[in-house]
Amino acid sequence: RSDPVVLGIETSCDETGVGIVRGSTLLANVIASSMEEHARYGGVVPEVAARAHLEALGPTLRSAVDEAGITLDEVDAIAVTNGPGLAGALMVGVGAAKALALSLDVPIYAVNHLVGHVGADVLADDEPFEYPTIALLVSGGHTSLLLVHDLTSDVELLGETIDDAAGEAFDKVARVLGLAYPGGPRIDAAAVDGDPRAIRFPRGLTKPKDLVRHRYDFSFSGLKTAVARWVEQRQDAGEPLPVGDVAASFREAVADVLVGKAIAACVDLGVPRLLLGGGVVANARVRALAAERADAAGIALRIPPLSLCTDNGAMIAALGAQRIMAGHEPSDLGFGADSTLPV
Ligand code: KG4
Ligand code: ZN
Repeated sequence: RSDPVVLGIETSCDETGVGIVRGSTLLANVIASSMEEHARYGGVVPEVAARAHLEALGPTLRSAVDEAGITLDEVDAIAVTNGPGLAGALMVGVGAAKALALSLDVPIYAVNHLVGHVGADVLADDEPFEYPTIALLVSGGHTSLLLVHDLTSDVELLGETIDDAAGEAFDKVARVLGLAYPGGPRIDAAAVDGDPRAIRFPRGLTKPKDLVRHRYDFSFSGLKTAVARWVEQRQDAGEPLPVGDVAASFREAVADVLVGKAIAACVDLGVPRLLLGGGVVANARVRALAAERADAAGIALRIPPLSLCTDNGAMIAALGAQRIMAGHEPSDLGFGADSTLPV
C-alpha cells in the first residue's frame, strides 16, 4: 500500500527513540537520551540504559504522536529494532512495540538496527537513494561496512570492527586525555588546535598481511593502546601533554582508516555511491576526508542530517514503511530481541 503511517521504536543503546513517518516523509522524530547517566562511567552501562528506556518510552511515545499531529488510530503499522544492541535495552522496546501493535490491531515489523541506519537516508530531503550502495555505519556501539543491494531484502556485511567501535575509541582516548564523556565531540574540538601529523599513530588492519583476511574489517584497540602509551610516556617524563596534537593525530588515524576502507570497498566492488551513518559521522575530519576522497574517486557521497545519523526511531519507522511498500509480510508476534542479530 502507498504511504503507510508507521511508528518506529528504537531502544538498542542509550537513546530512546520514537519516530513516525508517512511513507518516505518524516512526521516526527523524538529522542530521549540517558547519556548523562552514563557519563560518570565513561561508557554506556547496559542495566542503566534498560531502566532509562523503561522510564522514557511512555513520554517519548506521547511526544512523538503529538509532534506528528496524528492520533494513534491513524498508525498503520509498528516497526521496532530487535537487534543488534544491548539485550535488556532492546527488550524494553520490543515489549512495548508488541503491546502497541496488538492494542491498535496493526502489523509489526522487526527491524535490524544497522539496516535502519541505511533506511534513514530515504527521509533526507534530496533525491532518492540508488542501489547498490556502500554504507559505512560508525557509532559508539558499531563500526560496520555494508553493501546494500536492496534496502528491504538484500544487505551484505562486508566487514566490521573486530574489537572496539570507532566511537568507543573516541570515548576511551578522551578519558586518557582527561576530556569528558562522550569523547567524540571533545576530541573533535581539541583537534582544531592540533597538528594531525605530529604523531604517527597506528592504522589498524591496514598492513598487507591484514588485508588478506580483514580487508573491510576495523580494529581500534591497538590505536587506543598506542595513544595511552604515548601519553603515559610523556607524563612519566614530566613533560606537558600536547592535547591538541594528540587529539588531531588520533582523529586523523581513525578518519584515515574509516574513509580509506569505505572508499576501497566502493572502488573494489565498482559501486560509486557511499552513505555514512552513526554518531561518529558528526566528526569534522571524517566528513572532510570522506568528501575529499569520494570526490577524487568519482564516488557520490551522502550524509543524512545528523539527527537521522545518530540512533533514532524515525529510521526504524522508515525501514518499516519501505518493507510495507515493497510488499513484505509483517513479522510474527513471537520474535525476540537478538543482541548479535546479523544483517
Ligand atoms: O550514534 P550515536 O549517537 O549512539 C550510539 O553509539 O549508538 O553515537 C555516539 C558515539 C559516541 O561514541 C560519541 O563519542 C561519538 O558517537 N561521536 C563522535 C562525535 N560526536 C559523537 N565521535 C567523533 N567525533 C564527533 N564529533
Ligand atoms: Zn546505531
